[in-house]
Amino acid sequence: MNSSRRQFLTWLSVGLTGLITAAIGVPILGYLLGPLLRPVENEWRVAGKVADWRLGDTKLVKIENPASLPWAGTTAESAAWVRRTGDASFLTFSVHCTHLGCPVNWLDDAQLFLCPCHGGAYYQDGTVAAGPPPRPLFNLPWRINGENIELRTIVLPTENEPQ
Ligand code: FES
Repeated sequence: MNSSRRQFLTWLSVGLTGLITAAIGVPILGYLLGPLLRPVENEWRVAGKVADWRLGDTKLVKIENPASLPWAGTTAESAAWVRRTGDASFLTFSVHCTHLGCPVNWLDDAQLFLCPCHGGAYYQDGTVAAGPPPRPLFNLPWRINGENIELRTIVLPTENEPQ
């Protein structure tokens, strides 16, 4: 009798410990892992006012990375080049070189995008001018919304994914 009461209390304490652990652990795991399992949503981001670009201007704009996590900090920031080619037309490029992803710079005098890492060069339309880049700069979808130009964030394909 004493033995079965002891056994019952042992199982009761094991069961309650398991319940309490699950009650505390599941929300913590959900909080930590939830953002990693959430699909990346591409969103429109304001790049600036259309009037801020004169014809031919190429400017660097900061945008937030679409895959950013709540704790990403400054790593959530990305950038894009926006070039005005007409009254209501723009060329928009990811800042990342298509070789190994270094940020490219715009040289206004040469009218070229240059990559500082391995000497890759791109023409003003984003096509490869020289060096190791295997393809043109990635374009970002854009739209004019009111007085602003907006860029749609995209997850850039990697070397092993279809482009
Ligand atoms: S990363 Fe740009 S040329 Fe290599």
